[in-house]
Amino acid sequence: FTVDMDASAADKGAYPFYMLKEIDEQPAVMRKLVQEYFGDHDDPQIDENLIKAMADADHIYIVGAGTSYHAALVGARIFERLCGIPTTVHISSEFAYEQPLLSKKPFFIFLSQSGETADSRQVLVNVNAHKWPSLTITNVDKSTLSREATFTELLYAGPEIAVASTKAYTAQIAVEAILAKALGEYLGKDAAKKFDVKHQLGLVANGMQSITDSKKEIEEVAARYLSKPRNAFYIGRGLDWSVSLEAALKLKEISYVQAEGFASGELKHGTIALIEKGTPVLGIITQDRTAGLTRSNLDETRARGANTITIVSRHLSQEDDTIILPDVDECLTPLLSVVPAQLLAYYTSLGKGLDVDKPRNLAKSVTVQ
Ligand code: G6P
Repeated sequence: FTVDMDASAADKGAYPFYMLKEIDEQPAVMRKLVQEYFGDHDDPQIDENLIKAMADADHIYIVGAGTSYHAALVGARIFERLCGIPTTVHISSEFAYEQPLLSKKPFFIFLSQSGETADSRQVLVNVNAHKWPSLTITNVDKSTLSREATFTELLYAGPEIAVASTKAYTAQIAVEAILAKALGEYLGKDAAKKFDVKHQLGLVANGMQSITDSKKEIEEVAARYLSKPRNAFYIGRGLDWSVSLEAALKLKEISYVQAEGFASGELKHGTIALIEKGTPVLGIITQDRTAGLTRSNLDETRARGANTITIVSRHLSQEDDTIILPDVDECLTPLLSVVPAQLLAYYTSLGKGLDVDKPRNLAKSVTVQ
């Protein structure tokens, strides 16, 4: 299975919707990223000036909107784990007009599939006015955000047509992980040295393939649990919480189910009041330290009538889990746990007869503030 990454790839082929095609392209995008960033080398080949500029920073700020903001949340945890540099994430439309207090030597990363989001660009204008160094990670070479930032790295995901972003999200996380590996190694961090990102992205590609090969099972879960309810909740802790936010966004934007992602420990501080008989609660469980805690939070919702659905890494799985994910390094589990969530959203939307690729009221690229 190969993907032609040039403009002619923007053809649906035998697929009913671009979104499904783009979900299926994710393993090929992972392999393409390994090829582009590693070639024949074991270590990532990244512009040394970029690594030096990042190593010089006392704080990394990642800025984005929508799905790119969610990919930033995952990336921040990877940068902190592998590089030991405090990293915070900001929604571009907030940062642009209410700039928080910043550290003395900030480095900015802009995540944007299109490279054209107006709010993100407004942040970059402010950053450039202060002459702070920046990197844009984008799918579109020579886009506005790419031209105006100090550095650019590309996503190599090929054109993304469906309004709901899928392969750009996973490509963004993969590029963040590759960068974190390069920066952490440069800084002499043990966690980065031990993180074999090239090998791991190969495992991720195979894992994505096996999940997209189980579409039938995922379609059945969507039909059974998500076709009728008006609302649904994704829950998780740490990286699983970050993915919960993206998983819920996928579901709400194309199936119009009112879906929210929550830090599972926060449920009991309010949201659990919304649980009724039949409310779907989807738990994402991929992190060793928090698996047991999220499971007990799921039990609490089940005791109040929720239908619980689990998306779990194999080594943490139990007999009655719903969707089992192949095991990969803990930093990269978001690349796998999001795929069933993308497919659940897709099949829920499809089952309702909606226009999966063009949900109401939404645009692919938002160029107004
Ligand atoms: C729109 C799109 C989303 C996207 C967001 C940010 O809302 O519908 O899919 O995540 O813009 O776009 P960007 O191109 O900056 O990643």
